[in-house]
Amino acid sequence: MLIKTGAKLKKDFPALAGKVYIDNAATTQKPKQVIDAISYYYETDNSNAHSGIYVASENTAKLVDQARADVAAFINARSEEIIFTRNATDSFNMLADSLKKFTGPGNNIVTTELEHHSNFVPWQQIATELGAEFRVAKYNETNETINPEKYVDARTKIVALTGMSNVTGIVPDVEKIIKVIRQKNKAAIIVLDITQLVAHEKIDVKKLDCDFACFSAHKLYGPGGVGILYGKQELLEQLEPTRFGGGMIRKVTNSESSWADLPDRLEPGTVNAEGIIGTGVAIKYLKDNNYSELFASENELRDYALEKLREINGLKIIGHKKQKHGPVIAFLIDDVHPHDVATICARSNVCIRAGSHCAHPFHQRLGIPATLRISLSFYNDRKDVDKLIDSLNVAKKILSGD
Ligand code: ALA
Repeated sequence: MLIKTGAKLKKDFPALAGKVYIDNAATTQKPKQVIDAISYYYETDNSNAHSGIYVASENTAKLVDQARADVAAFINARSEEIIFTRNATDSFNMLADSLKKFTGPGNNIVTTELEHHSNFVPWQQIATELGAEFRVAKYNETNETINPEKYVDARTKIVALTGMSNVTGIVPDVEKIIKVIRQKNKAAIIVLDITQLVAHEKIDVKKLDCDFACFSAHKLYGPGGVGILYGKQELLEQLEPTRFGGGMIRKVTNSESSWADLPDRLEPGTVNAEGIIGTGVAIKYLKDNNYSELFASENELRDYALEKLREINGLKIIGHKKQKHGPVIAFLIDDVHPHDVATICARSNVCIRAGSHCAHPFHQRLGIPATLRISLSFYNDRKDVDKLIDSLNVAKKILSGD
């Protein structure tokens, strides 16, 4: 039932025509509503937000403010707590630069092997630069567990963890983990990567009690070029800008500069108004279509896909045995290279991902260089999964000689 609820929206996504697109963890397709809103904006109000004293510019500013409020409400934050960046990677990097003052020699930064490089490398780099210890919580493949809280002590300054792996879709119980971290160390700054999770589960940043959370609009049915950095307001207030220029200034003299209030002080330069407006429309689209039901339909389809994948001889699924996972599945077929399988799938316009998915430490832990990965959206249906299975069987026949 639910699968139908989600898949009936396929018609809203023009780019789905003629292909089976199941690489949604890489980027999602955009509904016509988002595409039209951006075109309409270019054809009407297109102007620089916050700089013109004329109607189009004022309209742009209002639309950007509305989108900020919509993004905030979607994760139960306040508008003042939302900073727009270029993508999730940009959010993490900006944050890492700004948080340098909180760490140094004798301190440590904790992260996990499940992380996407974007929530791993920036912390590794600042730890190396500042002489802080970089602690990486190990993934236990047998139990499918990750326990970053065990690596936290009184000297931990930053904890960076993911809400959902972009490789296997595992969903650690971050609410519980954060509670334990708070008990061990009240002052540690907790940064959550919700890039994958936000597209599959309702997020409440207040309930989760993270200090910062980052994600990208393009993985949430919005346009490219928009990242979101959520931060608790009292912490955002303490972040010094790390990029400078127009739009973020209170006053500049020949000898010094002072900064505007939030969010402007952390959003230097011309904002990506069209992208931000499109992001607001993507969120409205999800709300209008009862996104809790859409997310439930994805999990139903994930179970169907797991069942069908398990029927293929020699196919090994990574995870999905014991712990909670979202609609993202990594797997291997016999000992054939994932790129070869994905190439054969592509011949039938079945779009899946092969590689290490910007997650080298995780693959090193698994002891494999690469995996195949499917990542489902509500607009996928059983027919998409069936076509995938057909393509995988063809690939297996060609590559394994079965
Ligand atoms: N980070 C994106 C992915 O997981 C590109 O596929």
